[in-house]
Amino acid sequence: MTEKHDVLSMTDLAADLPRLLERASELKAMRKARTPYRPLEGRYLAMIFEKPSTRTRSSFEIAMTDLGGHAVYLSPKEMQLGRGETVADTARVLSRYYDAIMYRAYRHTDMVELAKWSSIPVINGLDDAEHPCQIAADLLTLWERWGGSFRGRRLAYIGDGNNVLNSLLLGTAITGLDFVAAIPEGYRPKAPLVAQARAIARTTGARLEIVRDPREAAKGSDVLYTDVWVSMGDEAEEAQRKAAFQGYQISAELLRAARPGAFAMHDLPAHRGLEITDEVMDGESQAIWDQAENRLHAQKAILEWALVGTPPAARAPRPPGKGKAR
Ligand code: CP
Ligand code: NVA
Repeated sequence: MTEKHDVLSMTDLAADLPRLLERASELKAMRKARTPYRPLEGRYLAMIFEKPSTRTRSSFEIAMTDLGGHAVYLSPKEMQLGRGETVADTARVLSRYYDAIMYRAYRHTDMVELAKWSSIPVINGLDDAEHPCQIAADLLTLWERWGGSFRGRRLAYIGDGNNVLNSLLLGTAITGLDFVAAIPEGYRPKAPLVAQARAIARTTGARLEIVRDPREAAKGSDVLYTDVWVSMGDEAEEAQRKAAFQGYQISAELLRAARPGAFAMHDLPAHRGLEITDEVMDGESQAIWDQAENRLHAQKAILEWALVGTPPAARAPRPPGKGKAR
């Protein structure tokens, strides 16, 4: 492979997303059957975490080990990066040891800088702009639940117009899934990103709306998705955010306003009693734990794609069709 497969945004996965979801599901079946599969033998992943992580760290490390490779956890606090070595110099050095870098950063500009100076793929493990690996896992979760199709479905996002929302906007547009977000004024996604998502949605036939009222968003939706009101880095605004998001909670009552059979999603960590109730988290009408598990399987597909290439589909590919993409 000559092309460097960075994953800085959801859009970097766009062209290959249908096959990546299918591949993630194949890798999931292999893991469940404990079938050894080690295409990444002798490959190394650097994982730089500027912020805490439970899911991203564990799932990337296990994904690498399961696929025969090795992952190394790096924290800027213990790296020279934290003492003033530049992102560019760090990128050049890590490129001499490793085969890919997963980076969880405060600033998307640092993510772009790292990718610019790395000769190896850089995978965004969350920054202030996007969280593409999360949304790949979430789309896998929906794809499984809906039998491999997003056609005729609608996802409602309730809450903050943050990194998760940005990747979700792009991911739903790419897959042709109708999308509505209920977001208070002042917390909406930036206009260029919405315009980018709308341009993609026009090509796949997905509908995209941003409203204020959570009940309006829930009505006619198959899934209600939420994320924290106070993201990592937003802690100074905690009080004002908690006030602004009152009423933007996924509850059993809000789920009842959605389509029959609707369920909740949350990328986690959750703040129970704020953006989502205990009752929903602990109930049956949710896909939250499947989402968390699918981080592992989706990231395996991404790592394989970025490092050695995705093997061709076992069955004949679908003929290119008009209208909505899967
Ligand atoms: N959802 C997610 O990225 O979780 P972590 O912060 O625990 O990695
Ligand atoms: N929006 C959240 C996601 C956590 C996985 C944050 O950035 O903290």
